[in-house]
Amino acid sequence: MSTNNREKFSTSLAIFFATLGSALGLGNIWKFPYLTGKFGGGAFLLIYSLSIFLIGIPVMLSEFYIGRKTKKNPIGAFEHLRPNTAWSVIGYMGVISSYLVIFFYTDVAGWVYSYFFKSLMGSFNNVSKAALQRQFDTTIIGPLSPLFWKATVLLVVSLILILGVQKGIEKITKTLLPLFFILIIITAIRSLSLPNSNKGVAFLFTVNFKSLGSIGILTALGLAFFKLSLGMGSMITYSGYFTDNNNMLNTAFHVALSDTIVSVLAGLAIFPAVFAFNIEPSAGPGLLFITIPLVFSQIPFGNFLLIGFFFLSCIVATTAMISMVEVLVVLFKEKLGTSRTTSVLLNSLIIFCIGSLATLSAHPHGLLGGFLVFGKSFFDLFDYFSSNILLPLGGLLTIIFVGYIINRENFIEELSNNKKLKNTSYLRFIFFVLKYISPILLIIVFLNSLGLLKF
Ligand code: TRP
Repeated sequence: MSTNNREKFSTSLAIFFATLGSALGLGNIWKFPYLTGKFGGGAFLLIYSLSIFLIGIPVMLSEFYIGRKTKKNPIGAFEHLRPNTAWSVIGYMGVISSYLVIFFYTDVAGWVYSYFFKSLMGSFNNVSKAALQRQFDTTIIGPLSPLFWKATVLLVVSLILILGVQKGIEKITKTLLPLFFILIIITAIRSLSLPNSNKGVAFLFTVNFKSLGSIGILTALGLAFFKLSLGMGSMITYSGYFTDNNNMLNTAFHVALSDTIVSVLAGLAIFPAVFAFNIEPSAGPGLLFITIPLVFSQIPFGNFLLIGFFFLSCIVATTAMISMVEVLVVLFKEKLGTSRTTSVLLNSLIIFCIGSLATLSAHPHGLLGGFLVFGKSFFDLFDYFSSNILLPLGGLLTIIFVGYIINRENFIEELSNNKKLKNTSYLRFIFFVLKYISPILLIIVFLNSLGLLKF
Protein backbone atom coordinates (compact mmCIF):
# COMPACT_ATOMS: atom_id res chain seq x y z
CA MET A 1 0.00 0.00 0.00
CA SER A 2 1.19 3.48 -0.63
CA THR A 3 2.32 5.38 2.40
CA ASN A 4 1.90 8.89 1.02
CA ASN A 5 -1.84 9.00 1.52
CA ARG A 6 -1.39 8.97 5.28
CA GLU A 7 -2.55 11.94 7.26
CA LYS A 8 -0.19 13.77 9.59
CA PHE A 9 -0.52 15.54 12.92
CA SER A 10 -0.21 19.22 12.18
CA THR A 11 2.21 20.72 14.70
CA SER A 12 4.72 19.63 17.31
CA LEU A 13 2.26 20.57 20.02
CA ALA A 14 -0.38 18.37 18.42
CA ILE A 15 2.15 15.54 18.22
CA PHE A 16 2.97 15.96 21.90
CA PHE A 17 -0.68 15.89 22.93
CA ALA A 18 -1.63 13.00 20.68
CA THR A 19 1.28 10.90 21.93
CA LEU A 20 0.50 11.85 25.49
CA GLY A 21 -3.10 10.91 24.74
CA SER A 22 -1.90 7.39 24.01
CA ALA A 23 0.28 7.23 27.12
CA LEU A 24 -2.19 8.69 29.58
CA GLY A 25 -5.01 6.41 30.49
CA LEU A 26 -6.22 3.81 32.91
CA GLY A 27 -2.59 2.99 33.51
CA ASN A 28 -2.19 6.21 35.52
CA ILE A 29 -5.38 6.29 37.52
CA TRP A 30 -6.25 2.62 37.85
CA LYS A 31 -3.25 0.37 37.32
CA PHE A 32 -0.45 2.48 38.78
CA PRO A 33 -2.19 3.10 42.15
CA TYR A 34 -3.44 -0.43 42.61
CA LEU A 35 -0.10 -2.02 41.75
CA THR A 36 1.81 0.47 43.90
CA GLY A 37 -0.56 -0.45 46.73
CA LYS A 38 -0.10 -4.13 46.11
CA PHE A 39 3.69 -4.02 46.00
CA GLY A 40 4.23 -1.83 49.02
CA GLY A 41 4.62 1.77 47.84
CA GLY A 42 7.87 3.70 47.39
CA ALA A 43 10.10 0.85 46.25
CA PHE A 44 7.67 0.05 43.44
CA LEU A 45 7.54 3.73 42.45
CA LEU A 46 11.34 3.84 42.39
CA ILE A 47 11.77 0.80 40.14
CA TYR A 48 8.93 2.03 37.95
CA SER A 49 10.53 5.46 37.48
CA LEU A 50 13.93 3.94 36.75
CA SER A 51 12.31 1.67 34.17
CA ILE A 52 10.64 4.64 32.51
CA PHE A 53 13.86 6.58 32.11
CA LEU A 54 16.48 3.87 31.59
CA ILE A 55 14.40 1.54 29.44
CA GLY A 56 11.15 3.23 28.44
CA ILE A 57 12.62 6.30 26.75
CA PRO A 58 15.19 4.33 24.72
CA VAL A 59 12.46 1.92 23.59
CA MET A 60 10.17 4.81 22.73
CA LEU A 61 12.85 6.48 20.63
CA SER A 62 13.54 3.18 18.86
CA GLU A 63 9.84 2.91 18.01
CA PHE A 64 9.80 6.53 16.83
CA TYR A 65 12.77 5.77 14.60
CA ILE A 66 11.05 2.76 13.07
CA GLY A 67 7.68 4.45 12.72
CA ARG A 68 8.65 7.75 11.16
CA LYS A 69 11.24 6.16 8.92
CA THR A 70 8.83 3.60 7.44
CA LYS A 71 5.36 5.08 8.02
CA LYS A 72 3.90 1.60 8.11
CA ASN A 73 2.04 -0.77 10.40
CA PRO A 74 4.32 -2.56 12.88
CA ILE A 75 4.69 -5.73 10.81
CA GLY A 76 5.17 -3.85 7.55
CA ALA A 77 7.71 -1.57 9.21
CA PHE A 78 10.09 -4.38 10.13
CA GLU A 79 9.56 -6.04 6.75
CA HIS A 80 10.42 -2.75 5.09
CA LEU A 81 13.60 -2.19 7.09
CA ARG A 82 14.87 -5.79 6.81
CA PRO A 83 12.88 -7.63 4.11
CA ASN A 84 12.53 -11.41 4.37
CA THR A 85 14.06 -11.75 7.78
CA ALA A 86 12.66 -12.99 11.08
CA TRP A 87 12.59 -9.44 12.51
CA SER A 88 8.95 -9.01 11.51
CA VAL A 89 8.18 -11.44 14.34
CA ILE A 90 8.39 -8.37 16.60
CA GLY A 91 5.50 -6.89 14.66
CA TYR A 92 3.45 -10.09 14.95
CA MET A 93 4.11 -10.24 18.69
CA GLY A 94 2.96 -6.64 18.90
CA VAL A 95 -0.32 -7.56 17.26
CA ILE A 96 -0.91 -10.33 19.79
CA SER A 97 -0.14 -7.93 22.65
CA SER A 98 -2.48 -5.32 21.19
CA TYR A 99 -5.33 -7.78 21.28
CA LEU A 100 -4.52 -9.05 24.77
CA VAL A 101 -4.32 -5.53 26.18
CA ILE A 102 -7.46 -4.25 24.50
CA PHE A 103 -9.43 -7.38 25.53
CA PHE A 104 -9.27 -6.36 29.20
CA TYR A 105 -8.71 -2.62 28.80
CA THR A 106 -12.18 -2.24 27.30
CA ASP A 107 -13.59 -3.80 30.49
CA VAL A 108 -11.89 -1.37 32.83
CA ALA A 109 -12.87 1.46 30.51
CA GLY A 110 -16.42 0.13 30.75
CA TRP A 111 -16.29 0.32 34.54
CA VAL A 112 -15.14 3.95 34.24
CA TYR A 113 -17.92 4.76 31.76
CA SER A 114 -20.46 3.21 34.10
CA TYR A 115 -19.07 5.19 37.06
CA PHE A 116 -19.39 8.37 35.03
CA PHE A 117 -22.99 7.48 34.38
CA LYS A 118 -23.61 6.62 38.05
CA SER A 119 -22.05 9.87 39.20
CA LEU A 120 -24.37 11.73 36.82
CA MET A 121 -27.30 9.95 38.47
CA GLY A 122 -26.02 11.05 41.87
CA SER A 123 -25.47 7.46 43.04
CA PHE A 124 -22.46 8.43 45.12
CA ASN A 125 -24.02 11.11 47.31
CA ASN A 126 -22.97 10.41 50.91
CA VAL A 127 -22.28 6.82 50.19
CA SER A 128 -20.35 4.64 52.68
CA LYS A 129 -17.17 2.68 52.11
CA ALA A 130 -18.99 -0.65 52.41
CA ALA A 131 -21.63 0.46 49.91
CA LEU A 132 -18.91 1.50 47.48
CA GLN A 133 -17.24 -1.87 47.78
CA ARG A 134 -20.59 -3.54 47.02
CA GLN A 135 -21.20 -1.23 44.07
CA PHE A 136 -17.82 -2.07 42.63
CA ASP A 137 -18.45 -5.81 42.99
CA THR A 138 -21.84 -5.63 41.30
CA THR A 139 -20.45 -3.43 38.54
CA ILE A 140 -17.88 -5.99 37.54
CA ILE A 141 -19.59 -9.29 38.31
CA GLY A 142 -22.31 -8.78 35.73
CA PRO A 143 -22.67 -10.53 33.44
CA LEU A 144 -24.98 -8.19 31.53
CA SER A 145 -23.95 -4.76 32.69
CA PRO A 146 -20.18 -5.07 32.12
CA LEU A 147 -20.90 -6.57 28.68
CA PHE A 148 -23.21 -3.66 27.93
CA TRP A 149 -20.54 -1.13 28.96
CA LYS A 150 -17.85 -2.95 27.01
CA ALA A 151 -20.05 -2.73 23.92
CA THR A 152 -20.67 0.96 24.58
CA VAL A 153 -16.95 1.62 24.90
CA LEU A 154 -16.30 -0.21 21.64
CA LEU A 155 -19.03 1.73 19.91
CA VAL A 156 -17.52 5.06 20.94
CA VAL A 157 -14.02 3.96 19.93
CA SER A 158 -15.28 2.63 16.59
CA LEU A 159 -17.14 5.83 15.77
CA ILE A 160 -14.10 7.97 16.43
CA LEU A 161 -11.88 5.65 14.42
CA ILE A 162 -14.26 5.58 11.48
CA LEU A 163 -14.44 9.36 11.42
CA GLY A 164 -10.65 9.42 11.03
CA VAL A 165 -8.04 9.74 13.67
CA GLN A 166 -5.76 12.66 13.34
CA LYS A 167 -8.07 15.65 13.29
CA GLY A 168 -10.31 14.17 15.95
CA ILE A 169 -7.50 13.11 18.22
CA GLU A 170 -5.75 16.44 17.89
CA LYS A 171 -8.84 18.36 18.91
CA ILE A 172 -9.84 16.12 21.80
CA THR A 173 -6.39 15.80 23.32
CA LYS A 174 -5.39 19.45 23.01
CA THR A 175 -8.38 20.71 24.93
CA LEU A 176 -9.18 17.94 27.37
CA LEU A 177 -5.80 16.66 28.52
CA PRO A 178 -4.87 19.95 30.22
CA LEU A 179 -8.26 19.89 31.91
CA PHE A 180 -7.62 16.34 33.13
CA PHE A 181 -4.30 17.49 34.54
CA ILE A 182 -5.94 20.31 36.49
CA LEU A 183 -8.68 18.10 37.85
CA ILE A 184 -6.24 15.48 39.06
CA ILE A 185 -4.32 18.21 40.89
CA ILE A 186 -7.55 19.34 42.55
CA THR A 187 -8.29 15.74 43.52
CA ALA A 188 -4.81 15.34 45.00
CA ILE A 189 -5.17 18.57 47.00
CA ARG A 190 -8.52 17.48 48.36
CA SER A 191 -7.17 14.06 49.26
CA LEU A 192 -4.12 15.59 50.95
CA SER A 193 -6.39 17.73 53.10
CA LEU A 194 -8.02 14.65 54.66
CA PRO A 195 -7.02 13.59 58.19
CA ASN A 196 -4.03 11.20 58.30
CA SER A 197 -3.11 12.07 54.75
CA ASN A 198 0.58 12.10 55.68
CA LYS A 199 0.46 8.33 56.02
CA GLY A 200 -0.54 8.04 52.38
CA VAL A 201 2.27 10.32 51.31
CA ALA A 202 4.74 8.32 53.40
CA PHE A 203 3.45 5.08 51.86
CA LEU A 204 3.97 6.41 48.34
CA PHE A 205 7.47 7.76 48.89
CA THR A 206 9.08 5.53 51.51
CA VAL A 207 11.30 3.02 49.82
CA ASN A 208 11.11 -0.38 51.41
CA PHE A 209 12.05 -3.35 49.30
CA LYS A 210 10.45 -5.96 51.57
CA SER A 211 7.11 -6.28 49.84
CA LEU A 212 8.45 -5.84 46.32
CA GLY A 213 10.06 -9.17 45.40
CA SER A 214 11.05 -10.27 41.94
CA ILE A 215 7.48 -10.24 40.67
CA GLY A 216 7.13 -6.67 41.95
CA ILE A 217 10.20 -5.64 39.97
CA LEU A 218 8.94 -7.35 36.82
CA THR A 219 5.53 -5.76 37.32
CA ALA A 220 7.04 -2.27 37.71
CA LEU A 221 8.97 -2.79 34.49
CA GLY A 222 5.88 -4.11 32.71
CA LEU A 223 3.89 -1.13 33.94
CA ALA A 224 6.48 1.23 32.44
CA PHE A 225 5.87 -0.40 29.05
CA PHE A 226 2.12 -0.38 29.51
CA LYS A 227 2.18 3.26 30.61
CA LEU A 228 4.20 4.54 27.69
CA SER A 229 2.28 2.35 25.22
CA LEU A 230 5.46 0.53 24.25
CA GLY A 231 6.33 -2.89 22.96
CA MET A 232 3.33 -3.47 20.72
CA GLY A 233 3.44 -0.93 17.93
CA SER A 234 1.28 1.96 19.15
CA MET A 235 4.23 4.30 19.03
CA ILE A 236 5.43 2.86 15.72
CA THR A 237 2.00 3.59 14.29
CA TYR A 238 1.69 7.08 15.80
CA SER A 239 5.17 8.22 14.83
CA GLY A 240 4.23 7.38 11.24
CA TYR A 241 1.98 10.44 11.54
CA PHE A 242 4.73 12.72 12.92
CA THR A 243 5.98 15.63 10.85
CA ASP A 244 9.51 15.43 9.47
CA ASN A 245 10.65 18.38 11.51
CA ASN A 246 9.41 17.09 14.85
CA ASN A 247 12.06 16.87 17.54
CA MET A 248 11.30 13.31 18.59
CA LEU A 249 13.84 13.32 21.41
CA ASN A 250 11.92 16.18 23.05
CA THR A 251 8.59 14.51 22.35
CA ALA A 252 9.73 11.31 24.07
CA PHE A 253 11.08 13.14 27.12
CA HIS A 254 8.10 15.42 27.51
CA VAL A 255 5.62 12.57 27.14
CA ALA A 256 7.45 10.29 29.57
CA LEU A 257 7.85 13.06 32.13
CA SER A 258 4.27 14.33 31.92
CA ASP A 259 2.92 10.81 32.09
CA THR A 260 4.97 9.97 35.17
CA ILE A 261 3.90 13.20 36.86
CA VAL A 262 0.25 12.30 36.27
CA SER A 263 0.80 8.85 37.81
CA VAL A 264 2.39 10.34 40.90
CA LEU A 265 -0.47 12.86 41.15
CA ALA A 266 -2.93 9.98 40.90
CA GLY A 267 -1.01 8.32 43.72
CA LEU A 268 -1.35 11.52 45.73
CA ALA A 269 -5.06 11.60 44.98
CA ILE A 270 -5.61 8.01 46.07
CA PHE A 271 -3.22 6.99 48.88
CA PRO A 272 -3.98 9.77 51.37
CA ALA A 273 -7.65 8.81 51.01
CA VAL A 274 -6.78 5.13 51.40
CA PHE A 275 -5.29 5.85 54.82
CA ALA A 276 -7.88 8.45 55.81
CA PHE A 277 -10.73 6.00 55.19
CA ASN A 278 -8.94 2.93 56.45
CA ILE A 279 -8.84 1.04 53.19
CA GLU A 280 -6.23 -1.64 52.53
CA PRO A 281 -3.65 -0.20 50.08
CA SER A 282 -3.46 -3.66 48.54
CA ALA A 283 -7.23 -3.78 47.96
CA GLY A 284 -6.67 -4.49 44.25
CA PRO A 285 -8.31 -3.31 41.04
CA GLY A 286 -11.20 -1.65 42.90
CA LEU A 287 -8.95 0.88 44.64
CA LEU A 288 -9.73 3.78 42.27
CA PHE A 289 -13.47 3.12 42.29
CA ILE A 290 -13.73 3.02 46.06
CA THR A 291 -11.46 5.90 47.02
CA ILE A 292 -12.34 8.60 44.49
CA PRO A 293 -16.06 8.81 45.35
CA LEU A 294 -15.03 9.04 49.02
CA VAL A 295 -12.53 11.81 48.30
CA PHE A 296 -15.30 13.95 46.85
CA SER A 297 -18.04 13.08 49.27
CA GLN A 298 -18.97 15.70 51.85
CA ILE A 299 -17.40 18.70 50.16
CA PRO A 300 -19.25 21.50 48.39
CA PHE A 301 -19.65 20.74 44.68
CA GLY A 302 -18.15 17.32 45.38
CA ASN A 303 -20.53 15.61 43.03
CA PHE A 304 -19.67 17.98 40.19
CA LEU A 305 -15.99 17.30 40.71
CA LEU A 306 -16.70 13.58 40.75
CA ILE A 307 -18.65 13.81 37.50
CA GLY A 308 -15.76 15.79 36.01
CA PHE A 309 -13.23 13.27 37.24
CA PHE A 310 -14.99 10.29 35.73
CA PHE A 311 -15.80 12.18 32.54
CA LEU A 312 -12.17 13.06 31.95
CA SER A 313 -11.14 9.53 32.91
CA CYS A 314 -13.46 8.27 30.17
CA ILE A 315 -11.71 10.62 27.76
CA VAL A 316 -8.18 9.52 28.61
CA ALA A 317 -9.20 5.85 28.55
CA THR A 318 -10.75 6.43 25.14
CA THR A 319 -7.77 8.20 23.59
CA ALA A 320 -5.52 5.40 24.88
CA MET A 321 -7.80 2.77 23.34
CA ILE A 322 -7.85 4.62 20.05
CA SER A 323 -4.06 4.35 19.89
CA MET A 324 -4.30 0.61 20.51
CA VAL A 325 -7.07 -0.19 18.07
CA GLU A 326 -5.54 2.11 15.44
CA VAL A 327 -2.59 -0.30 15.28
CA LEU A 328 -4.96 -3.11 14.33
CA VAL A 329 -6.98 -0.99 11.94
CA VAL A 330 -3.89 0.15 10.04
CA LEU A 331 -2.67 -3.43 9.98
CA PHE A 332 -5.95 -4.72 8.48
CA LYS A 333 -5.99 -1.91 5.94
CA GLU A 334 -2.42 -2.37 4.85
CA LYS A 335 -2.21 -6.16 5.07
CA LEU A 336 -5.70 -7.36 4.19
CA GLY A 337 -6.73 -4.40 2.07
CA THR A 338 -10.01 -3.86 3.92
CA SER A 339 -11.44 -0.34 4.11
CA ARG A 340 -11.06 1.72 7.28
CA THR A 341 -14.69 1.14 8.26
CA THR A 342 -14.54 -2.62 7.71
CA SER A 343 -11.25 -2.85 9.58
CA VAL A 344 -12.73 -0.99 12.53
CA LEU A 345 -15.91 -3.04 12.64
CA LEU A 346 -14.13 -6.40 12.27
CA ASN A 347 -11.74 -5.55 15.08
CA SER A 348 -14.50 -4.35 17.37
CA LEU A 349 -16.29 -7.61 16.81
CA ILE A 350 -13.19 -9.67 17.61
CA ILE A 351 -12.50 -7.56 20.71
CA PHE A 352 -16.05 -7.89 21.94
CA CYS A 353 -16.33 -11.64 21.34
CA ILE A 354 -12.96 -12.87 22.59
CA GLY A 355 -12.58 -10.02 25.05
CA SER A 356 -15.76 -11.05 26.83
CA LEU A 357 -13.70 -13.89 28.33
CA ALA A 358 -12.01 -11.14 30.34
CA THR A 359 -15.31 -9.41 31.13
CA LEU A 360 -16.82 -12.54 32.58
CA SER A 361 -13.77 -13.42 34.66
CA ALA A 362 -12.84 -10.01 36.08
CA HIS A 363 -14.42 -10.88 39.42
CA PRO A 364 -13.91 -14.24 41.20
CA HIS A 365 -17.72 -14.56 41.41
CA GLY A 366 -18.25 -13.70 37.76
CA LEU A 367 -19.58 -16.29 35.30
CA LEU A 368 -16.05 -17.43 34.33
CA GLY A 369 -14.37 -16.15 37.49
CA GLY A 370 -13.58 -19.62 38.79
CA PHE A 371 -12.09 -20.80 35.51
CA LEU A 372 -8.32 -20.62 35.85
CA VAL A 373 -5.60 -21.04 33.24
CA PHE A 374 -2.04 -21.25 34.65
CA GLY A 375 -3.62 -20.34 37.99
CA LYS A 376 -5.07 -17.09 36.65
CA SER A 377 -8.46 -15.93 35.41
CA PHE A 378 -8.65 -14.85 31.75
CA PHE A 379 -8.75 -11.22 32.86
CA ASP A 380 -5.54 -11.57 34.90
CA LEU A 381 -3.91 -13.79 32.33
CA PHE A 382 -4.43 -11.32 29.47
CA ASP A 383 -3.06 -8.55 31.69
CA TYR A 384 -0.13 -10.50 33.12
CA PHE A 385 0.96 -12.11 29.89
CA SER A 386 0.85 -8.87 27.91
CA SER A 387 2.24 -6.41 30.46
CA ASN A 388 4.80 -8.59 32.16
CA ILE A 389 5.97 -10.73 29.28
CA LEU A 390 5.03 -9.71 25.75
CA LEU A 391 5.45 -5.92 26.02
CA PRO A 392 8.90 -6.05 27.69
CA LEU A 393 9.97 -8.82 25.30
CA GLY A 394 8.76 -6.82 22.29
CA GLY A 395 10.61 -3.81 23.68
CA LEU A 396 13.79 -5.83 24.21
CA LEU A 397 13.73 -7.13 20.64
CA THR A 398 13.00 -3.62 19.34
CA ILE A 399 16.04 -2.08 21.03
CA ILE A 400 18.21 -4.99 19.97
CA PHE A 401 17.00 -4.42 16.42
CA VAL A 402 17.74 -0.71 16.51
CA GLY A 403 20.95 -1.07 18.54
CA TYR A 404 22.55 -3.90 16.62
CA ILE A 405 20.95 -4.01 13.16
CA ILE A 406 20.24 -0.38 12.38
CA ASN A 407 23.54 1.37 12.85
CA ARG A 408 24.16 4.37 15.03
CA GLU A 409 24.55 6.84 12.19
CA ASN A 410 21.12 5.99 10.78
CA PHE A 411 19.56 6.40 14.19
CA ILE A 412 21.24 9.75 14.76
CA GLU A 413 20.37 10.96 11.28
CA GLU A 414 16.66 10.23 11.69
CA LEU A 415 16.34 11.57 15.25
CA SER A 416 18.30 14.72 14.47
CA ASN A 417 16.19 15.32 11.34
CA ASN A 418 19.24 14.93 9.12
CA LYS A 419 21.43 16.88 11.55
CA LYS A 420 19.16 19.91 11.45
CA LEU A 421 18.73 19.60 15.20
CA LYS A 422 21.88 20.05 17.22
CA ASN A 423 21.23 17.08 19.50
CA THR A 424 23.86 14.64 18.26
CA SER A 425 25.72 14.29 21.54
CA TYR A 426 22.50 13.47 23.42
CA LEU A 427 21.60 10.95 20.75
CA ARG A 428 25.00 9.28 20.98
CA PHE A 429 24.50 8.90 24.70
CA ILE A 430 20.98 7.51 24.29
CA PHE A 431 22.15 5.12 21.63
CA PHE A 432 24.80 3.87 24.02
CA VAL A 433 22.17 3.32 26.73
CA LEU A 434 19.81 1.58 24.34
CA LYS A 435 22.52 -0.67 22.96
CA TYR A 436 24.33 -1.67 26.14
CA ILE A 437 22.39 -0.72 29.25
CA SER A 438 18.64 -1.10 28.65
CA PRO A 439 18.84 -4.62 27.14
CA ILE A 440 21.02 -5.84 30.00
CA LEU A 441 18.65 -4.41 32.60
CA LEU A 442 15.70 -5.99 30.83
CA ILE A 443 17.39 -9.36 30.66
CA ILE A 444 18.36 -9.18 34.34
CA VAL A 445 14.76 -8.47 35.34
CA PHE A 446 13.50 -11.34 33.16
CA LEU A 447 16.02 -13.82 34.58
CA ASN A 448 15.25 -12.64 38.09
CA SER A 449 11.53 -13.14 37.64
CA LEU A 450 12.10 -16.62 36.26
CA GLY A 451 14.13 -17.41 39.39
CA LEU A 452 17.29 -17.96 37.32
CA LEU A 453 19.08 -15.02 38.89
CA LYS A 454 18.71 -13.98 42.51
CA PHE A 455 19.45 -10.64 44.08
N1 TRP B 1 -0.67 3.75 27.97
C1 TRP B 1 -2.06 3.55 28.17
C2 TRP B 1 -2.42 3.62 29.64
O1 TRP B 1 -1.57 3.72 30.47
C3 TRP B 1 -2.55 2.23 27.60
C4 TRP B 1 -2.04 1.93 26.25
C5 TRP B 1 -2.29 2.60 25.09
C6 TRP B 1 -1.20 0.86 25.91
N2 TRP B 1 -1.62 2.02 24.05
C7 TRP B 1 -0.94 0.95 24.54
C8 TRP B 1 -0.65 -0.15 26.68
C9 TRP B 1 -0.08 0.07 23.95
C10 TRP B 1 0.19 -1.05 26.07
C11 TRP B 1 0.50 -0.94 24.73
O2 TRP B 1 -3.55 3.56 30.00
